[in-house]
Amino acid sequence: MANTNLTVLVTGGTSGIGAALVTMLTDRGCTVLTTSRDPERIPMSERIPGVRYLRLDLADPDSVEALGDEVAEIDVLVNNAGESQSGPFEELPSEALDRLFRTNVLGPVRLSQLALPGMRERRHGRIIMIGSMLASFPLAHRSSYVASKAALCGFATAARQELSPFGVWISVVEPGSIATGIGERRTKYLDAGSDYAEDVATMIEHLDDNERRGISPETVAATVVRAIEAGRPREFYAVGSRSPLPFLLKRVLPRGVMSRIVARQHGLRR
Ligand SMILES: NC(=O)c1ccc[n+]([C@@H]2O[C@H](COP(=O)([O-])OP(=O)(O)OC[C@H]3O[C@@H](n4cnc5c(N)ncnc54)[C@H](OP(=O)(O)O)[C@@H]3O)[C@@H](O)[C@H]2O)c1
Repeated sequence: MANTNLTVLVTGGTSGIGAALVTMLTDRGCTVLTTSRDPERIPMSERIPGVRYLRLDLADPDSVEALGDEVAEIDVLVNNAGESQSGPFEELPSEALDRLFRTNVLGPVRLSQLALPGMRERRHGRIIMIGSMLASFPLAHRSSYVASKAALCGFATAARQELSPFGVWISVVEPGSIATGIGERRTKYLDAGSDYAEDVATMIEHLDDNERRGISPETVAATVVRAIEAGRPREFYAVGSRSPLPFLLKRVLPRGVMSRIVARQHGLRR
């Protein structure tokens, strides 16, 4: 697939991985559309010339449907936008879970469904789901986020087998720790006087430190570009957090041992 003359929609292009990807794709000659919950808020000085900024709140099903006409025309959809959430499993409010799954799973799934008829008709298309390595390596107090990214990966991996005969390829990219400042935007839930408070604080401290020392969003964007431009994109890409080492260890170590390694990397003794 040629990299120029592609029309690409990258959700969540206002910061981090999405912003790096929008810049990279624009530099390669693609027609790029991106989204924000509040595009008016983006100052002209921060907008990339030629890029169209559309309104999208993935947590709002009407907002997703409203992009139907735009999405019908695209060659590539990168489902990048997402919410990072933390909190003990026992204390996660149901409205927070609801919003997270609309944002990280149901919104991206619906957006993909809206893009597919056009892609199938044109016999080419690429959909990239930005997952998280936490889906492969679950971590305490991140259960909702882990589950949302695992769900997205499950949808993508099964749907890939339905769509590849039409020249449409779905891939998952799992980033590890990436220095985007996402920790500052993470939604955090913890009850007052929670018995989990100390454990959560330890985990968050290590998580944020890993992210601060993480790789650049440009490195993830380059992996996404590789997936977009491959003739037959891989089912799965992992980038950051010394990947592929953790995946090699996962193959050889017992499940429980791997889980304890992940916990210890975040300061939790199990
Ligand atoms: N950074 C990491 O270490 C890391 C690791 C693994 C996976 N990831 C995943 O990589 C993706 C990008 O992460 P990032 O670090 O670049 O995050 P980020 O800098 O916080 O960017 C998130 C983007 O998503 C958009 N967004 C947030 N909530 C939204 C909603 N409800 N509807 C529509 N758009 C929404 C934001 O746009 P507006 O605020 O303008 O709406 C923003 O552009 C996410 O899916 C994240 O889960 C990140």
